[in-house]
Amino acid sequence: MAMKVSFFFVCFLMSFIFSSSSSLTTTTGSIDWWCTQTPHYQTCNHHIAYSNISSTTISINQFLDMTVAAAINEARSVQKRAQGIYLDYEPNALGKNLWGSCVDYFDGIVFTLNMVLDPTEQARPLDVHTWLSAGLTYINVCEKGFEMINMTNTMLLSISTELRELLLNSLAISVAIQGGSYSNNSRGLHGWEFSNEYKLLNSRNFDPDVTVAKDGSGDFMTVQEAVDSTRKEREWGERYVIFVKRGVYEEQVYIAHDVNFVLMYGEGVNNTIISAAEHSGGDLKSSATFQVWGRGFMAVDMTFRNTAGPNGGQAVAFLSNSDESVIYHCSIEGYQDTLFSLHFKQFYKECQIFGTVDFIFGNGHSVFQDCQVFLRKPLPGGGLVVTAQGRQYQNESSGFSLQGCNITAGEDLKPVIDQFKKAFLGRPWFDYARTVFMESFLDDLVDPLGWEDGWGHKDTAYCGEYNNYGPGSTTDHRVDWPNYEAITDPDIAKQFTVVEFIVGDDWIPTTGVPYVPGFERS
Ligand SMILES: *[C@@H]1O[C@H](CO)[C@@H](O)[C@H](O)[C@H]1NC(C)=O
Ligand SMILES: *[C@@H]1O[C@H](CO)[C@@H](O)[C@H](O)[C@H]1NC(C)=O
Ligand SMILES: *[C@@H]1O[C@H](CO)[C@@H](O)[C@H](O)[C@H]1NC(C)=O
Ligand SMILES: *[C@@H]1O[C@H](CO)[C@@H](O)[C@H](O)[C@H]1NC(C)=O
Ligand SMILES: *[C@@H]1O[C@H](CO)[C@@H](O)[C@H](O)[C@H]1NC(C)=O
Ligand SMILES: *[C@@H]1O[C@H](CO)[C@@H](O)[C@H](O)[C@H]1NC(C)=O
Repeated sequence: MAMKVSFFFVCFLMSFIFSSSSSLTTTTGSIDWWCTQTPHYQTCNHHIAYSNISSTTISINQFLDMTVAAAINEARSVQKRAQGIYLDYEPNALGKNLWGSCVDYFDGIVFTLNMVLDPTEQARPLDVHTWLSAGLTYINVCEKGFEMINMTNTMLLSISTELRELLLNSLAISVAIQGGSYSNNSRGLHGWEFSNEYKLLNSRNFDPDVTVAKDGSGDFMTVQEAVDSTRKEREWGERYVIFVKRGVYEEQVYIAHDVNFVLMYGEGVNNTIISAAEHSGGDLKSSATFQVWGRGFMAVDMTFRNTAGPNGGQAVAFLSNSDESVIYHCSIEGYQDTLFSLHFKQFYKECQIFGTVDFIFGNGHSVFQDCQVFLRKPLPGGGLVVTAQGRQYQNESSGFSLQGCNITAGEDLKPVIDQFKKAFLGRPWFDYARTVFMESFLDDLVDPLGWEDGWGHKDTAYCGEYNNYGPGSTTDHRVDWPNYEAITDPDIAKQFTVVEFIVGDDWIPTTGVPYVPGFERS
């Protein structure tokens, strides 16, 4: 069956590539036939082919819309069931908060899938592709949360299986569409028109819509109030600029998924600090000091901090699920699980990131360029691991690329470094985790093995290193995993540069933040 499916897809791809551009819209089949082309035929058939139009022939784009519509219905019903389970739990029962977060995640699936069907989005094929795989990431994060608190026998698996399969089907169709051609897709190929974009040629010359000041001299005294003031109609792409004056703001901040294009800037990382001390118990999302879900977020010159400390376990300082977000000159500070790059295309430039273990993690599709990565002193016997990337399926476009970064011990770790085992660059969090370090300075605290197999994904995960330097960069004794690669061919490494990996030329210029599109070192 699997062989047959991939054979057919190869045929599609060939026909897209080799015949006239109109073949995309002229390739048609019955719904049942299309279902046979997906990885989960039964689920497809059950949710779609019952319809009395099942004998008429449709195009691949029509079929994609139908599988997405079916996934939306299913996500709504799963969300309702999760809500019921959440309400049935006693207050304070183990796992209750986590069910609460899962309800939000399922809500996020409905929201994001609706974007796929919304013609005003003018989505590019890559957008559709990332929006579809977001749903899979949200389900995974819910599941992991229960694993972390050792609640494995929850209803989550049984209520979400069909939704997962519908999403995988949609993703496979979207991959087939993209494999053909990026141009002349029926959804339009114009990309996003950023109207009324602030011209941030000098990044310090922002013109704030509102100002937050602790001393009452601004429009608001808390950051969240300023965020809540943004829910007004704005033109697509027009930024809402929030200036946060110096001070330590002790609060958790939440930017919801319908609040797009917020630009927040402070007076420097040592001066404008948002800080909280929540930790997780499996519920990573609720521990976050700062979380952003809306698209096109920008942060400049400020600090996001979680002070739960090395005893706090998983404690997120910054969670980003913001597509096409740019974080510039910021400091992100915590211990375990500091920076949760959950999903979508993200760009971090000249940031400082502090932590002990798995402190850059998630299923983000992210480039970290010229960042200072500081490993901190863990608890006695504690481990040191920089990344934990969370890509689960080969059809997902996500991964982490760290370029031109410095991986070194922080001030607290330096004097006691001999008491700890060496640091790993990463441990793959899901099957097809994908992480690359390139053109970076790796200090002597990096273990000669380089990578650790924390969760048994070494046979499928991809880990790459290219043109790094420093005492920890020697690849002679690295892990012998099948997909570990000490990259020497620049054409392979090029795939992980800003211009190719996150198609940065399409969207970073509108922010005015400087970036290196290709390689930094020759
Ligand atoms: C399916 O058939 C029923 C009855 O024959 C009809 O009422 C309904 O409108 C049809 N639905 C679609 C989607 O064609
Ligand atoms: C879950 O179980 C593992 C292994 O038995 C244990 O080490 C860990 O502390 C447990 N975690 C929680 C949150 O109870
Ligand atoms: C990935 O997409 C391809 C192309 O559409 C499809 O053949 C394959 O089954 C998909 N893989 C999975 C695991 O869904
Ligand atoms: C895309 O469609 C437009 C208008 O339908 C046509 O002018 C153009 O040549 C097409 N481009 C490609 C690459 O086929
Ligand atoms: C922040 O303060 C620390 C300690 O005072 C100093 O080492 C660091 O250079 C400062 N960073 C910036 C960006 O000003
Ligand atoms: C990293 O360290 C090297 C050598 O210590 C230094 O020259 C470089 O400026 C640092 N890079 C960054 C991005 O801080």
